Amino acid sequence: MVESVASADVRSPGPQSLAGQKALVTGGSSGIGRAIALALARAGADVAVNYVSGEDAARDVAAEIDRIGRRALVLKADVADEGQVQAMFRSAIGELGTLDIVVPNAGLQRDAPFAQMTLAQWQRVIDVNLTGQFLCAREAVREFLRRGPRPEVSRALGKIVCISSVHEVIPWAGHVNYAASKGGVMLLVKSLAQELAPKRVRVCSVAPGAIRTPINEAAWSTPEAYEALMKLVPYKRIGETDDIARAVVWLASDDSDYVNGTSLFVDGGMTLYPGFEDGG
Ligand code: BGC
Repeated sequence: MVESVASADVRSPGPQSLAGQKALVTGGSSGIGRAIALALARAGADVAVNYVSGEDAARDVAAEIDRIGRRALVLKADVADEGQVQAMFRSAIGELGTLDIVVPNAGLQRDAPFAQMTLAQWQRVIDVNLTGQFLCAREAVREFLRRGPRPEVSRALGKIVCISSVHEVIPWAGHVNYAASKGGVMLLVKSLAQELAPKRVRVCSVAPGAIRTPINEAAWSTPEAYEALMKLVPYKRIGETDDIARAVVWLASDDSDYVNGTSLFVDGGMTLYPGFEDGG
């Protein structure tokens, strides 16, 4: 699609920048996914909240979205399973009418020293963190292309905001499966963005650093661990889930309409080689 007009109307930035849009967040029942689901709702979107275990927590998120005044759905699916992902998208689209924003966020760690890493540990991390993002992005793109533009809600045909990690660029000993999965997400995002830009689909990622969630509790829950962690964070505070959620809302909104294929690092500077603060 080539736009020859001088400029189109940009929706004004602000708290309701996603008004009228429909979103799906995988792994939306806890941690970063929960904050993203709530922030999208506060920005005006109706939200399908995916979970694989912990139905009560997912229902809590949906109840909170109801209180915000938006529509919420709770959908169980293992993002690594093609049939379950397709069924989830059918339900979300059936109930909400369509999807404008998809946030493949579900992710996990199965850490082990490399010589001890089992194939099962390797495979599960790749299946959830990388194949899960592929499956969700593919269903999202199919829906965007089927439905066509909705200029009344967004300039793009659709937005995919993958949740990656600083470990898409920072190697991570003892976590080779995880770093490999996130490195894969980086080029999934960029290649997909390149392929779909002419159709006006935007594909970006948020790459979080150390965020206070259950996945890395050991790294922040004691004063000693927190102090050690801060050696890796030039900004000298841990990230909160809302730091990530705000970035996702921006990438999903028309405020970032000219941003495509970008990894937005939200990491307090973790990717700035903190060892060089007083070395080198
Ligand atoms: C990991 C966390 C880790 C952070 C920074 C994230 O992607 O899931 O466990 O604390 O990266 O290393």
